[in-house]
Amino acid sequence: QQDPRLERISSAIRVIPDFPKPGILFQDITTLLLDPKAFKDTIDLFVERYRDQNINVVAGVEARGFIFGPPIALAIGAKFVPMRKPNKLPGICFLLNGYVLIIFTGEVISEEYSLEYGTDKIEMHVGAVQPGERALVIDDLIATGGTLDAAIKLLERVGVHVVECACLIELPELKVIGPAKQVDLLGLMGIK
Ligand code: PRP
Repeated sequence: QQDPRLERISSAIRVIPDFPKPGILFQDITTLLLDPKAFKDTIDLFVERYRDQNINVVAGVEARGFIFGPPIALAIGAKFVPMRKPNKLPGICFLLNGYVLIIFTGEVISEEYSLEYGTDKIEMHVGAVQPGERALVIDDLIATGGTLDAAIKLLERVGVHVVECACLIELPELKVIGPAKQVDLLGLMGIK
């Protein structure tokens, strides 16, 4: 029998037709955040699955992975690492004043990927993780899987083991090209 929390979570997510462009059924998780019980149930379900898996890193994908990732990280005793859209993380700083100074403030690595609508890139600070650490990748939704696939590649490039990816929502009508790892979907909503 299905966990009753899943139905409550599913009903708290609003579906908005034709956003951000015609033909897209946008899954709006902001309404879930307005329902503290459903929001807590969401976090609890992920925590129950991941707390005994020796995970040191919860890597959240911008933007909505930044909402669900930190409470999960705190509850399982892991650090939170943001995987950001391009040019948001401080990396190399150039100062022009007759001379060119190059100041390294944090090495950033990038991975490009295809989206349901367009292409994009995510970036991560290399020093945020250590080789051999175990990571959970979190985002709100998987459509083609390109975003999660890029997140896995970034982490694996620096020697991190990706245990699993976790999302609330799946859009099964979009062909899943990835990701390379299992995705825990809370068993919900593919048909929303
Ligand atoms: C959405 C969603 C995932 C991604 C999934 O984010 O939050 O991150 O698309 O798509 P995929 O499985 O086809 O890669 P979006 O790119 O719209 O960015 P945003 O979170 O900054 O709005």
